Amino acid sequence: MSIPYPNLFSEASIGNMIVKNRLIRSATFEELADEHGNVTDGYIELHRRLASGGVGLIITGYAHPIKNGGLPHMIGVESDDCIKGLRKVVEAVHNSGDGCKIALQIGHCGRQFPRRLQKETVAPSAVIDPSTGRIPREMSFEEVDKFIKACSAAVRRARDAGFDAVQFHAAHGWLLSSFLSPHTNRRQDMYGGSTENRVRVLSEIYKHSVKQVGSDFPIFAKINGNDFVEGGIDPNESLRLGKILSEVGFAALEVSCCMWETIVRRPEEIGWQPAVLPESRTNIVTKEKEAYNRAYTQLFKEKIENCSIILVGGLRSADVMEEIVSRKDADFVSLSRPLIREPDLPYLFKSGSKSVADCISCNKCITNKKRHGLHCSNIENI
Ligand SMILES: Cc1cc2nc3c(=O)[nH]c(=O)nc-3n(C[C@H](O)[C@H](O)[C@H](O)COP(=O)(O)O)c2cc1C
Repeated sequence: MSIPYPNLFSEASIGNMIVKNRLIRSATFEELADEHGNVTDGYIELHRRLASGGVGLIITGYAHPIKNGGLPHMIGVESDDCIKGLRKVVEAVHNSGDGCKIALQIGHCGRQFPRRLQKETVAPSAVIDPSTGRIPREMSFEEVDKFIKACSAAVRRARDAGFDAVQFHAAHGWLLSSFLSPHTNRRQDMYGGSTENRVRVLSEIYKHSVKQVGSDFPIFAKINGNDFVEGGIDPNESLRLGKILSEVGFAALEVSCCMWETIVRRPEEIGWQPAVLPESRTNIVTKEKEAYNRAYTQLFKEKIENCSIILVGGLRSADVMEEIVSRKDADFVSLSRPLIREPDLPYLFKSGSKSVADCISCNKCITNKKRHGLHCSNIENI
C-alpha cells in the first residue's frame, strides 16, 4: 500500500542524527515536573505517548539550566542530580517510539518571568516590556559568562542522560531571544550592538558545549523569523542571525516569531490579531492561515546551507505539510498544539485515516486550563 504523504514520511538527517520522518513535536512546556524540577511519572508518560504516536523527533518543553531560571513545575537540568530522572524519559521514548528521537530544549525566562514568581527579571538591557510594565535588570558581564557556562554544562548533562540532541530556546522573547533582538539588546559590550555581537551568547554556548560533548552531538536553536515589535528582528535580520548560527555549527534552526510584547501591537500594524502567547496564533481554521512562518523558512532554505530548517506555527493539514517538505520550503515541520490533543496524529496521517488535525487553535491549553499539567481544554469539542 502506498503512503499518502511520501515526502512527509521520508527519512532525513539532522547532522548525523537520522529522523524517521519530517514530523517534529515542537517544544511545549509540560508543567509536569515536581516542585523541585524533577522528572515525574506524568512527564515520562507524556513523552512515551508522543513517541508511540509516530512523531519522528520530540523536542521537550524547555528546561532551566540554572536554579530559579524556570517556571514552577518546569524540568531542571541545572545539576548532575537531574541526569538520572532525565535518563528515564529518554529510555521511555527510545523503548516505545519505533525509532523516535528526543531533544531536550534548554532556556531561561529572562525578561518574561511572571511578576508573581520573581520580583526581579534579568535581560541583556533594561528595556521596559509594555505588555507587563516591567523593567528588567541588565545582566552584568560576569552573569552572562556564568550563564554561558551553565548552558554548556546543561548540554553535557543532556548528552549523559542519553538525549539525541538539544535545542536552545532563543525565540518568543525569553532570555536568549532578548539577546538576539536589537529591540531588547542595547548593550555596549561584546554581547550587544552588531548582529555578530548579539548572536555571540549563542555562539559561545555552542563552542563551550562542543568542548564538552564533541561536534557530533546535534545542537539546535529556535529563533524568531520576525519579532513583530518595533525595532526588533525582521526577516532580513533573522536571516543574518541564522546564517551566523549555521556557520558556527548549529545543526538545525527552528523558525518561529513574536515576543510577549507583540500583544500590544495593533492588527492593522502587523496584519493579524495577536492573542496571549502571540507565537501560537489563534483561529487557524483555513489552509491559508496555516504555516504562518513559512516565508521565513523559505528565505532560510534559499540562503543557508549545511543546517536543517524546521518550520513551526499553525500546521494543521497533512497536505500542507507534504507540500512544504516537497517544495523544500523547510526540511521538517513541527507541531505543538495539535499533538497536545492528538499524540497519534502522525500515525493517523500515515495510515490515511485522517488528513487534518482536530486542534482549532483556541489556546485554551494556555488560557483556560482545566487541571494541572499539559492537556487540551477544549473539552466541549472532544
Ligand atoms: C502550552 C504551550 C506551551 C509551549 N511551550 C513552549 C516551550 O516550552 N518552548 C518553545 O519553544 N515553545 C513553546 N510553545 C510554542 C510552540 O512550540 C509553538 O512554537 C507554537 O505553539 C506554534 O505552533 P503550533 O501552531 O503547532 O501550536 C508552547 C506552546 C503552547 C501552546
